[in-house]
Amino acid sequence: MELLWKSHMKIHAMKLVYALLLVTLMSSKVTECRKGKIISTSFEYSALNCRAHSVSLKDFGGVGDGKTSNTKAFKSAISHLSQNASEGGSQLYVPAGKWLTGSFSLISHFTLYLHKDAVLLASQDINEWPVIKPLPSYGRGRDAAAGRHTSLIFGTNLTDVIVTGDNGTIDGQGSFWWQQFHNKKLKYTRPYLIELMFSDNIQISNLTLLDSPSWNIHPVYSSNIIIKGITIIAPIRSPNTDGINPDSCTNTKIEDCYIVSGDDCVAVKSGWDEYGIKFGWPTKQLVIRRLTCISPYSATIALGSEMSGGIQDVRAEDITAVHTESGIRIKTAVGRGGYVKDIYVKKMTMHTMKWAFWITGNYGSHADKNYNHSALPEIKNIHYRDMVADNVSMAGNLEGISNDPFTGICISNVTITMAAKAKKQPWTCNDIEGITSGVTPKPCDLLPEQGKENIRDCDFPSDYLPIDMLELKQCTYSI
Ligand SMILES: *[C@@H]1O[C@H](CO)[C@@H](O)[C@H](O)[C@H]1NC(C)=O
Ligand SMILES: *[C@@H]1O[C@H](CO)[C@@H](O)[C@H](O)[C@H]1NC(C)=O
Ligand SMILES: *[C@@H]1O[C@H](CO)[C@@H](O)[C@H](O)[C@H]1NC(C)=O
Ligand SMILES: *[C@@H]1O[C@H](CO)[C@@H](O)[C@H](O)[C@H]1NC(C)=O
Ligand SMILES: *[C@@H]1O[C@H](CO)[C@@H](O)[C@H](O)[C@H]1NC(C)=O
Ligand SMILES: *[C@@H]1O[C@H](CO)[C@@H](O)[C@H](O)[C@H]1NC(C)=O
Ligand SMILES: *[C@@H]1O[C@H](CO)[C@@H](O)[C@H](O)[C@H]1NC(C)=O
Repeated sequence: MELLWKSHMKIHAMKLVYALLLVTLMSSKVTECRKGKIISTSFEYSALNCRAHSVSLKDFGGVGDGKTSNTKAFKSAISHLSQNASEGGSQLYVPAGKWLTGSFSLISHFTLYLHKDAVLLASQDINEWPVIKPLPSYGRGRDAAAGRHTSLIFGTNLTDVIVTGDNGTIDGQGSFWWQQFHNKKLKYTRPYLIELMFSDNIQISNLTLLDSPSWNIHPVYSSNIIIKGITIIAPIRSPNTDGINPDSCTNTKIEDCYIVSGDDCVAVKSGWDEYGIKFGWPTKQLVIRRLTCISPYSATIALGSEMSGGIQDVRAEDITAVHTESGIRIKTAVGRGGYVKDIYVKKMTMHTMKWAFWITGNYGSHADKNYNHSALPEIKNIHYRDMVADNVSMAGNLEGISNDPFTGICISNVTITMAAKAKKQPWTCNDIEGITSGVTPKPCDLLPEQGKENIRDCDFPSDYLPIDMLELKQCTYSI
């Protein structure tokens, strides 16, 4: 059955007409009609773009019984819709049900919409996961040198693509993959849940992602990206289940996300060692707001370790971490090259942490032995302010690289309450330079306190990134 799309204006006009009717008639009959025939059969949400055409997966042979493979149904629905891409774009509606599927690819000017009771169940048949080449900025797969399994929802060289829903679910059924990873049985790198490459104008919103085989959301070599209202859940010991990994991306917004995972909640990346240096594609202009993270063995926000294309201009605010290993963590190594600079974080609340701040200059983990021993990363202009943390084992463990100090570190207005069993020395610092202001407990000597009369705030940009200027449209569809 076709879903009919109605323009915002039309709905507006209709609402007005009904309002007038209500006022003149004062009749409950009209209210019922309004509820029964119009409002309850439509759904609306905000999006980069609304679509002129919409079909349901059911119309393409989809079976939502949790057992039948729907890979073909997804492919044929999307292939059908590709014919209408240039005429106002198209939407694939996934109704309530359990839709088993392998990997499938999206198209431009396209929306995938999941009903609140729709569950995409990732197939456990390895033949449903085609193998593609490693990422050029990594040179090899993360799990295995050869190719990598295509992500469940994949897209490359697209523009204007939306994956959203009324908090519908994508279940990666990851234990199948975690076992093979632990038993070293993987021939190729594990798939992600959502990966978009070389794409522009991306929205991923209002979804729940469960048990990803590996990373959850991976936009790479892409720009103008909104990731909003996402819940990500994976066991806290599951391997490499990073939440959201913007990788060589420009102008990205991550907002209102709740993440429980076995790896970093957000991991900002840009390629690995000599491959990343050669590819030279940075992540820049990234804003992260209202993120809640639970990750006892990893970071709330990690910068790296793959940062060889550079990371610049990251702004994070209103971040909450609970029972998480570290707050903001920079990971890098000799051989990475690249840079991490102009990083701003404010208004962060942390409960039960191993480290509030962690910088690691000797992370190691190289793509291969051919990395350039002279390629030193440049780490500078790191600003942290307005934070409270309690039950913390170590306030900061800040380790630069000898002959390559990490500079311009600024920490202000930060109150850390140490755990009863905390380490004796709250701070450890090596090969770093910077200042602090209004920080307790008293920081290390390499971060001298400016004193009461010289109190200053660390920087945080007051302007907006272009992605914040983008206004979403209100789209209404009715069945
Ligand atoms: C998210 O869902 C809410 C309703 O629950 C809707 O109002 C909003 O437009 C959606 N936002 C996005 C970005 O999908
Ligand atoms: C979608 O595209 C097909 C093929 O070009 C065309 O026949 C069909 O009329 C289009 N549908 C709509 C609703 O425009
Ligand atoms: C996608 O875009 C990249 C970068 O512009 C290009 O190198 C690649 O060939 C394109 N791939 C396809 C399948 O068009
Ligand atoms: C979405 O669903 C998840 C899992 O059921 C739930 O924890 C979360 O609160 C829901 N989010 C919204 C906005 O309803
Ligand atoms: C403090 O942290 C420890 C683990 O380091 C934990 O066992 C304990 O429950 C935490 N206490 C509170 C009050 O959160
Ligand atoms: C290794 O890195 C150094 C410092 O960036 C650079 O000057 C040199 O050209 C690089 N060597 C190779 C073989 O890429
Ligand atoms: C210090 O940080 C706290 C939040 O942790 C904030 O409420 C307070 O306003 C900040 N103080 C100043 C002087 O900025």
